[in-house]
Amino acid sequence: MTTLQDSTPTPRGAALVDSFGRVHTDLRISLTDRCSLRCTYCMPEQGNTWLTRSSLMTPDEIERVAAVAAGLGVTSIRLTGGEPLLRRDLVDVVQRLSALRSGGQPLEVTLTTNGIGLPARLDELWAAGLSRVNISIDTLRRERFLELTKRDRLADVLEGIHAAAASGRPLKLNAVAMRCVNDDEIVDLVELATSVGAQMRFIEQMPLDAGHVWDRDSMLTREEILEALSRRWDLTPVPGRGAEPAERWWLDGGPHAVGVIASVSAPFCGSCNRLRMTADGQLRSCLFATEELDLMPALRADGPAPSEASGDLAIEAVLRAAVRGKKAGHAIDSPTFLQPIRGMNAIGG
Ligand code: 5AD
Ligand code: SF4
Repeated sequence: MTTLQDSTPTPRGAALVDSFGRVHTDLRISLTDRCSLRCTYCMPEQGNTWLTRSSLMTPDEIERVAAVAAGLGVTSIRLTGGEPLLRRDLVDVVQRLSALRSGGQPLEVTLTTNGIGLPARLDELWAAGLSRVNISIDTLRRERFLELTKRDRLADVLEGIHAAAASGRPLKLNAVAMRCVNDDEIVDLVELATSVGAQMRFIEQMPLDAGHVWDRDSMLTREEILEALSRRWDLTPVPGRGAEPAERWWLDGGPHAVGVIASVSAPFCGSCNRLRMTADGQLRSCLFATEELDLMPALRADGPAPSEASGDLAIEAVLRAAVRGKKAGHAIDSPTFLQPIRGMNAIGG
């Protein structure tokens, strides 16, 4: 159990460095646990218990935490969900966060979305300062999409992709690769991405499903994804990965590339620079953390409101405690591995 008091004092404003020397510069903020889809690997079709509206962080609260994080070296913020486009105040949040600075530079604000409803909001989002968008798409077949997401919305997702591509900003498409589900569409997905000037990335499925039916042996691995790709293209590694979760390969020497996020078979925890905040203000040091630290007491104090300075100090203390308690890695392969209680929709990708 991490406490706010353990360990030696850290100088104010010092970077968020954990006990393994990893510097945390990326904050992923989940804006809602709700979604317009019901991807089977993420949440159940029915019986979800949603966060109440009053427990959701407000744009003010999100901005406050982000401002403190920026002062501690966080340089990029990814807005996730559930589906962040379901937040009516999304543009306001983007605007506030993009106006923050870290080390003299504006914060980079990006969005992970399923693309549904994106075309109507894209111009406002870019105007608000959004840097980039990642759109999730696991299949290009309507029946399969319906089966996988329980919603007949493939056309809406494709519209979102085309609109985002047309705006000329860098675009990444993400697919969770699944055996006997979409493993026959690996090449088709890459072809869609390259045809619109986007980069396709395949993600190994992680044990985050609500049904707890994930199984290591039936997971489609990095090797299998690469094998499917190399039947069609000559793959050469793109150097300079840094702390990026995706390993990338040029397709036939470039200019298009494909990414693989092998979270399970080739974990990249050793270079992890990410922290996560749930829509109800819980800080998680890892997707698979079994512990969350509550920021709400620092943001919504009972009794007389604390001064801004002491409130910010309390937020900083929670950020530091989360980083201090961060484990070396997710240990999915360990016999004692425990799947987090929250589904991916409530953690944020
Ligand atoms: N394993 C891997 N990726 C997942 N995502 C959601 N659930 C899982 C899972 N169990 C992905 C989504 C999206 C991003 C937010 O996280 O497909 O691309
Ligand atoms: Fe929604 Fe994303 Fe979860 Fe699918 S993976 S149900 S799009 S939050």
